[in-house]
Amino acid sequence: MPMASETLTIIDNRTGKQYEIPIKNGAIKATDLFQIKISEDEGIVSYDPGFMNTASCQSKITYIDGDKGILRYRGYPIEQIAEKATFLETAYLILNGELPTRAQLDDFSHHVTFHSIIHENIKKLIDGFHHDAHPMGVLVSTVGALSTFYPNAKKIFDAQNRREQTYRLVGKMPTLAAFAYRHSLGLPYSYPDNDLSYTGNFLNMLFKMTELKYKPNPVLERALDILFILHADHEQNCSTNAMRGIGSSQPDPYSSVAGAAAALYGPLHGGANEAVLRMLMEIGAKNKVPEFIEKVKGGSGRLMGFGHRVYKNYDPRARIIKQIADQVFDVMGKNPLLEIALELERIALNDDYFIKRKLYPNVDFYSGLIYQSMGLPMDMFPVLFAIPRTVGWVAQWEEMLIDPDQKLARPKQIYLGAPARDFVEMSKRN
Ligand SMILES: CC(C)(COP(=O)(O)OP(=O)(O)OC[C@H]1O[C@@H](n2cnc3c(N)ncnc32)[C@H](O)[C@@H]1OP(=O)(O)O)[C@@H](O)C(=O)NCCC(=O)NCCS
Repeated sequence: MPMASETLTIIDNRTGKQYEIPIKNGAIKATDLFQIKISEDEGIVSYDPGFMNTASCQSKITYIDGDKGILRYRGYPIEQIAEKATFLETAYLILNGELPTRAQLDDFSHHVTFHSIIHENIKKLIDGFHHDAHPMGVLVSTVGALSTFYPNAKKIFDAQNRREQTYRLVGKMPTLAAFAYRHSLGLPYSYPDNDLSYTGNFLNMLFKMTELKYKPNPVLERALDILFILHADHEQNCSTNAMRGIGSSQPDPYSSVAGAAAALYGPLHGGANEAVLRMLMEIGAKNKVPEFIEKVKGGSGRLMGFGHRVYKNYDPRARIIKQIADQVFDVMGKNPLLEIALELERIALNDDYFIKRKLYPNVDFYSGLIYQSMGLPMDMFPVLFAIPRTVGWVAQWEEMLIDPDQKLARPKQIYLGAPARDFVEMSKRN
């Protein structure tokens, strides 16, 4: 890391002028480039589609070293958290910066649990969707609609108020998700059970039938808890960037979470595990794998669940997920697609095309197989990602709000369109 006093010297060959740009925490400020003029009132800008080399914020939440395959929440390695913590303990850590004491965790769990019920009118809203409505569409709509139930939530600069909305968001996301799922099956909604853990209750809301009390399978409950831990935050990914971007115009957090969830929906982000399963089904058999790999190398399609914008090594979350997969398959029976996935991974990890491009399995390569084995349909996969990621979104949103450096997110553009010209009347256009 460079010293705070270090500078970057830029010599402008057009004018011979020299500029000293301060380097702080390994970064120069893009606004410092403004002094290098390209016209009387325009300065040089940096051009960076997709934010390939632009930091949009300073953050203390999540650390990733993509080359080494390291992921830490608030400094703690993901491997240790996944082994030793529960999801709600992780959520507390991400939101507050420190691991909770027993009393703090009990208090946090109590508040989240007691905010899991949703207003009956939200239930009616869900009833209004078609039976085959994609649950992610239902989730995006209903979490956005929560803002109308809690108009007070727009007081975003009141820390106590933010805390209350955080409990609601973390508490209600599983309920919205489970209700969307039950609606798609035409089943009666299963209400939250406050005696159960966060993931145990989620399983109850998804799968309870006529039994008086749902008893979650402890292996599946813990597997889901670990999957939630692995998905809780991932620094400035596409949906978090959306959360911060929307939040920067200062709406209530429900509106921002709806936008973040919409960003998560796409196949390059939260939709990737669904795409993995579709790919595995398309391949169909282990012996068809080499042929499929050749097609990918020939430029036809991508190997879904492989590659990552940040990880140029094995995604540490994928390693942990592989272990969980075995535990879930022991309970639910082996997923027949697993054989194809293992063969794909084996061949790809030994193939020059993937080695050269540093393409390794990411978190989504196995998560879909696990969810499918638990009896969840593919449509639910992005929803299962959105539930734990809500914690990361809220933590990042709050960090953005109280950061004096942050402003309304409004990037520049490089205009390459037509120069000024006079309007042409319709009758004179050919
Ligand atoms: C995640 C992803 C979008 C990151 O992409 P990126 O950082 O923008 O990388 P690029 O698209 O520039 O790809 C770099 C090179 O690797 C290739 N590549 C990247 N991912 C690939 C994949 N999954 N299969 C095959 N080739 C891939 C690209 O074709 C490109 O090759 P080229 O240099 O010969 O043109 C990309 O790896 C991907 O599409 N993966 C599959 C979807 C997925 O699993 N997403 C979940 C992420 S958690």
